[in-house]
Amino acid sequence: MAISIKSPEQIEKMRIAGRLASSVLEMIGKYVVVGVTTEKLDQICHDFIVNDLKSIPAPLNYNGFPKSVCTSVNNVVCHGIPGEKKLKKGDIINIDITIIKDGFHGDTSKMFMVGKPSVKASRICKITQECLMLGIQQVKPGIHLGEIGKVIGTHAKSKNCSVVKDYCGHGIGLGFHELPQVIHYDDGKIEQSPILESGMTFTIEPMINLGGYEVITSKIDGWTVTTKDRSLSAQWEHTILVTETGYEILTIREEEKSQHL
Ligand code: MF3
Ligand code: CO
Ligand code: CO
Repeated sequence: MAISIKSPEQIEKMRIAGRLASSVLEMIGKYVVVGVTTEKLDQICHDFIVNDLKSIPAPLNYNGFPKSVCTSVNNVVCHGIPGEKKLKKGDIINIDITIIKDGFHGDTSKMFMVGKPSVKASRICKITQECLMLGIQQVKPGIHLGEIGKVIGTHAKSKNCSVVKDYCGHGIGLGFHELPQVIHYDDGKIEQSPILESGMTFTIEPMINLGGYEVITSKIDGWTVTTKDRSLSAQWEHTILVTETGYEILTIREEEKSQHL
């Protein structure tokens, strides 16, 4: 299967799905406080997505995933399952939202800090967001997809952090995970990677660790991915459209429009 090019009508639907996904992250912020369980955050997001947005939470039952959002705390890299554990002061948590509206997917995540973060915690969150934005800024027709991972890998390395290799960004549209795979490091095959064309839509979602790049998947739940060395990990994700001149961030939040990222 080749990389799909979205029609103007499909792009408009992707814009709507993206905006709705970002609105969930804007809505949930005030609930991310000391003592709240990740299960409660899941329930609030689920109800908002279904009742207010009239949309479908894509993770629910996706390959057997049991909840509507992913909540990944501290050394959890991704795919954390919401549960009974309460958030503590100083925790960092990624909330990853994917919604389906009118058949199309919008996928986005950000880090939240619970109370005052440690220097290490705020550092990994900031560096990872920088990695995402640097990756996005490469996007325009004619470049190799691999250029995105190259700048992300270079930035992470310059800060003595490592890029998770086992999970990638992905094409997105009618499917949750379409082609291409968007890797977040330089695999030495940039010239062989696809050339971007306007109308492509994909996510960029770097996972960056304070320690080594190796990760483990829980043998107990089959989902939760943690750093092998237990170091802190962060992730930020946007759904991106390749335009004639560059890119459009389909999942941009209000807070980002006024920030200088
Ligand atoms: N939202 C994740 C991504 O960015 C995928 C989660 S799949 C799930 O691709 F099954 F864990 F929900
Ligand atoms: Co996601
Ligand atoms: Co994604």
